[in-house]
Amino acid sequence: MIHQFNFPTIVRFGEGAVQELASYLKSQGSQRPLLITDGVVAKLVFFEKIMDDLRQQGLSPELFCDISKNPVKSDVLKGNEAYHQHGSDAIVGLGGGAAMDVARAVALSINNTRDLLEYDELIGGDQYITEPVPLFVTIPTTAGTGSEVGRSAIISDDVTRKKHILFHPTLLAQIVFADPELTYELPPAVTAATGMDALTHNMEAYLAKNYHPMADGIALEGIRMIARSLEKAVNQSDVEARREMLLASLMGAVAFQKGLGVVHSMAHPLSALLDMHHGLANAICIPYGLRFNIDGFEDRFAVMAQAIGLTNHSGEAVIQALLNLNQKIGLPTRLSEQGVREEHIDELATLASEDFAHPNNPKPVSREDFMQLYTAAL
Ligand SMILES: [Fe+2]
Repeated sequence: MIHQFNFPTIVRFGEGAVQELASYLKSQGSQRPLLITDGVVAKLVFFEKIMDDLRQQGLSPELFCDISKNPVKSDVLKGNEAYHQHGSDAIVGLGGGAAMDVARAVALSINNTRDLLEYDELIGGDQYITEPVPLFVTIPTTAGTGSEVGRSAIISDDVTRKKHILFHPTLLAQIVFADPELTYELPPAVTAATGMDALTHNMEAYLAKNYHPMADGIALEGIRMIARSLEKAVNQSDVEARREMLLASLMGAVAFQKGLGVVHSMAHPLSALLDMHHGLANAICIPYGLRFNIDGFEDRFAVMAQAIGLTNHSGEAVIQALLNLNQKIGLPTRLSEQGVREEHIDELATLASEDFAHPNNPKPVSREDFMQLYTAAL
């Protein structure tokens, strides 16, 4: 059997890395980059500084920030229009997961001109992505999704709200500027929820059933880094902890090319149906979802327990550590605290069983299993 492993993205990592953006764009022949971010980041001081710096270095940047919290097709169409109106020659995706999804989908749509959702990978649409993607650069501002090193974008239909996955190797950024300073001002609640998303990526990737020892190694180190840094990043805004969280989130996304699992399949419907923040949904679901995987995979849980620094290496000790971590960083541990009610569970379980993540879970998850897991997490 032949396996494929990919770790191709150039990452410029460290405090001040974002200052290299202008010279990089110029070196690639770009003069008129379109910066795509969300409306919150667009108003932050560091974002204005980035725009000023680009102008001072002779570039003509343009901003597009009219995007939804859970990105929809019309966001991408508007971004495409902004790119053409400005006569842009590069796209810089700057932000958390939503901004990065829109930026990546806009990059796809510039030269690939079918209806955007026809490119959905789940219906084989990736085969139509044949035209080149413009220069595409990513800059993360949260330590969570790791989308800066990804090659997919999740975009929903405006009307049906159905999520579509746009995936293609050419959608990788040519370069990532990962600058921990951009995460210093993140509020504790965002740091906590996005950090738990990163932890979930690393843990689910480590447990995922595909064969990928390289991803396993990266995931384990990511787990180790988050276990020692997340609480400090949230409660003390410790600079070294911020640095580790940004790198660990990026590592989680590299690792989950191996696959995700039951926790992400529980989390996705909570966002789709109830608009819950993705990281928060994972944070609440991870103890309950991972507990489902202990039986038969005790050896893997023992290794994760060691990475976390636990003396007790049982699976249940890992679950308790996750519940404790949520409490220490001020996150809820029950879905009912976020307005989920018993009558939601049936539909949530249906959506979760149709989700793309759990087929890579180490063991099969049925709709009935999802009913029980949501009930346990309620
Ligand atoms: Fe995630």
